[in-house]
Amino acid sequence: MKESGPRIVKLEEYAPSPFLVTDVFLTFDLDETKTLVKSLLKIKRNEDLQESANQLILDGQNLKLISLKLDGEFLTKDQFSLTSEKLYISVSKKSFSLEIETEINPAANTALQGLYRSGNIFCTQNEPEGFRRITYFIDRPDIMAKYSTKIIADKKLCPVLLSNGNPVKSGDLDNGKHFVEWHDPFFKPSYLFALVAGDLGLLKDKFITKSKRVIDLRIYSDKGNEDKCTFAMESLKKAMKWDEDTFGLEYDLDIYMIVAVDAFNMGAMENKGLNIFNSSAVLANPDIATDDNYHRIESIIAHEYFHNWTGNRVTCRDWFQLTLKEGLTVFRDQEFSSDLHSRPVQRIRDVQSLKERQFPEDDGPTAHPIRPSSYMEINNFYTATIYEKGAEVIRMIHTLVGPSGFRRGMDKYFELFDGKAVTTEDFIHSMEVANNIDLTQFKNWYSQFGTPRIEVESSFDEKQKTFNLNIKQLSPETLHFPLKVGLIDQNGKEISLSLPKEETNLLLKKGILEIKKREESFQFKNINKKPFLSINRDFSAPIKINWNPSMENQIFLLTHDSNGFNRYEAAQDLANKIIQKEIGSIHAHETLDIPEEYIEAFGTLLGDNSIDPFFKSLCLQIPSEGVLLQDQEVYDFDGTHLSRNFLKKVLAKTYKKKILTLYKKLSVNKKYTLASKDVGNRALKNTLMSFLMCLEEEEIYELIKEQFDQANNMTDKVAALQCLVYSNSPLKRPALDTFYLHWNKNHLVMEKWFAIQASSPQQNTYTKVYELEESAVYDKRIPNIVRALWGSFSSNYVHFHHKSGRGYSLIAKKIIELDSINPQVSSALAKTFRHYKKLMPENKRLMQLELEKIRNHVGISKNVLEIVAKTLT
Ligand code: PHE
Ligand code: ZN
Repeated sequence: MKESGPRIVKLEEYAPSPFLVTDVFLTFDLDETKTLVKSLLKIKRNEDLQESANQLILDGQNLKLISLKLDGEFLTKDQFSLTSEKLYISVSKKSFSLEIETEINPAANTALQGLYRSGNIFCTQNEPEGFRRITYFIDRPDIMAKYSTKIIADKKLCPVLLSNGNPVKSGDLDNGKHFVEWHDPFFKPSYLFALVAGDLGLLKDKFITKSKRVIDLRIYSDKGNEDKCTFAMESLKKAMKWDEDTFGLEYDLDIYMIVAVDAFNMGAMENKGLNIFNSSAVLANPDIATDDNYHRIESIIAHEYFHNWTGNRVTCRDWFQLTLKEGLTVFRDQEFSSDLHSRPVQRIRDVQSLKERQFPEDDGPTAHPIRPSSYMEINNFYTATIYEKGAEVIRMIHTLVGPSGFRRGMDKYFELFDGKAVTTEDFIHSMEVANNIDLTQFKNWYSQFGTPRIEVESSFDEKQKTFNLNIKQLSPETLHFPLKVGLIDQNGKEISLSLPKEETNLLLKKGILEIKKREESFQFKNINKKPFLSINRDFSAPIKINWNPSMENQIFLLTHDSNGFNRYEAAQDLANKIIQKEIGSIHAHETLDIPEEYIEAFGTLLGDNSIDPFFKSLCLQIPSEGVLLQDQEVYDFDGTHLSRNFLKKVLAKTYKKKILTLYKKLSVNKKYTLASKDVGNRALKNTLMSFLMCLEEEEIYELIKEQFDQANNMTDKVAALQCLVYSNSPLKRPALDTFYLHWNKNHLVMEKWFAIQASSPQQNTYTKVYELEESAVYDKRIPNIVRALWGSFSSNYVHFHHKSGRGYSLIAKKIIELDSINPQVSSALAKTFRHYKKLMPENKRLMQLELEKIRNHVGISKNVLEIVAKTLT
């Protein structure tokens, strides 16, 4: 008999569960390879349902079932049936208890879902469907129960035993064992259950909430790392305070714990009262962490903390609603970072990441709405679209209703849905009733995919003194969104916008046009001279715009726009157009036509000492290859790389003296601090260095090597290392060797060493990655390391897309090899084949061969299968 393919789960098929679990009593007897799990469940029928089913269906994977009892009676073989993923039990009772004993093997669990080992630590990861790898359960987020957990383990090996909620009892047992019992008073879905056990180091602190409750804060890590947790602890306290101040949300348990582990599939996990973190999102000190690492830690700590309300107290009805908690929580962490640091800089970085990660996804084979309508493997949907585009959609609501309206909507959301598992519709509903508005059309954002496009046309009427703006939506769905615009006069002054009387546009005072129709025209009056147009300020809508502003307009914005974000956008737009224009001929002519005005504007920016250094460094940067590729019909990887470098080189040549002077001024060695001025100066200095490097001059290499040798912090060190490795300077060898000698015991630092070498454009990268794989530090069971090596290589366009096809076949081999270890890691790697459709014919043929090889590989996971099948169709 032919086996049917993996099942497709559909949103429209959602049905409430016929049985509900109200209480869960778990007992774990921990052992590396043979852990015994006893689960006592209180189950009742779902009274809301008309028909009553007589079959209870539980999920379970990789479990060894030992025994089953219903209301205290052992079930015999004929009273239940078992498949590789389900347990079926016939019951006619209204309510009953079920006792399940299973055995699991944490040491063999390399997929890192369910209960597994990270080094010597026992830990769990249950979102989205890991709990079914611990015990049989109705493993879906709308089953909310109260959990009590007893953990038994060897006292020497595992002195620390943690779970959700509050510790209620502990004591010693025979054979050197001990136990701790935990009770979580809040109802929660199974995906928020967590357990940790091991011999852990601890950093403790306190937080006093606005209602004066004292919260015990704890960060656990491998022993010896306690002092690397202080920054995370400070971040946690800031996040707790911010959520009280901004949303009135207070923490609800007496204890909040974070545990750092090395083997983790994602950044971190918001388990109730017991967050489990990838150690890269916790551990920091100036020697091992870059400024970007610090920034990421602060934002992930906040993100997981914010989930306590947006995710845990109010959770998702089903996994199609993932953006309900993720989009909203990303929006919240972005706002937190904006309030703590520079708002324009934060906005630029968030949009940069959206364009680099989400836009290509939305334009590729796995494009999906922020609320998908079907999936084969839900783990494939923890995407930039669900998270970052989801956050943009929330941000648009925030822009439309304003900060206080948004706060009212959030209050309403908690008033209506606290303790419930709900949908994105429920969130929108809260915003609607709290603000008395209609968001029906806005909901199209939840079902459309592909980055929407609009067309903008403008004209100035000298006689009428009007400026006309015509907006046309080009995407299939007619969307509702805020479009922030500005008109600037010749002196650089903002013109206040006014429309004829009969037209009301309530948001206009804030410079926002509310767009709802397919096509809309606006006529601004009392404009004396032709103004400069600044559009989609602050990226008020996550869209692409067909608009052909003059170079004069863009240069004017770059130098004068009061909206920082659009100054940056103008710089990007200018560079992008210059590069794109001649990409096809760069191979033959090895030159680009670079307009004088642009070179001049770049120089003005470089010399402007009045602007924030971080902002300046962002404006000076040339769009990344990934962003440049997005405007191409057929990808020209080499041309993009060459043109981008060429432009940088010309700019560096023109302004060598200026850049060097500024670089040297910024290079004074001083004490490392995270003050935003210092962070900004380092960012600027290292951006300047990357321009200088393009000159390919000995003296510059010496200078970079000096920065590498002298640096008193990881930011400056890796920036210099990367420049050397990306160059053909012989100085890279000694730099790489010292770096290795110094850091080979610290795998967080070694990840940078892998990533820099695997992403290098230099000739030998392909042979290099094989060497790196042989290094003693490489460990294919640690996702961070795998991503640093193979993830970086597959995003290295020049080498991955080498005309021989060797890059494709290497990554295909790795996907197959890693798939049997960890399908989440392999399917992430499979997503890097996303360029398939727009490759040149020969590359396309070569990639197709590899994709088919993967698809036909016997036993390939449905994670990879779903991605590869979508890529091929
Ligand atoms: N829910 C986590 C977060 O975004 C992400 C995550 C998903 C972690 C799945 C592990 C597994 O905060
Ligand atoms: Zn999240």
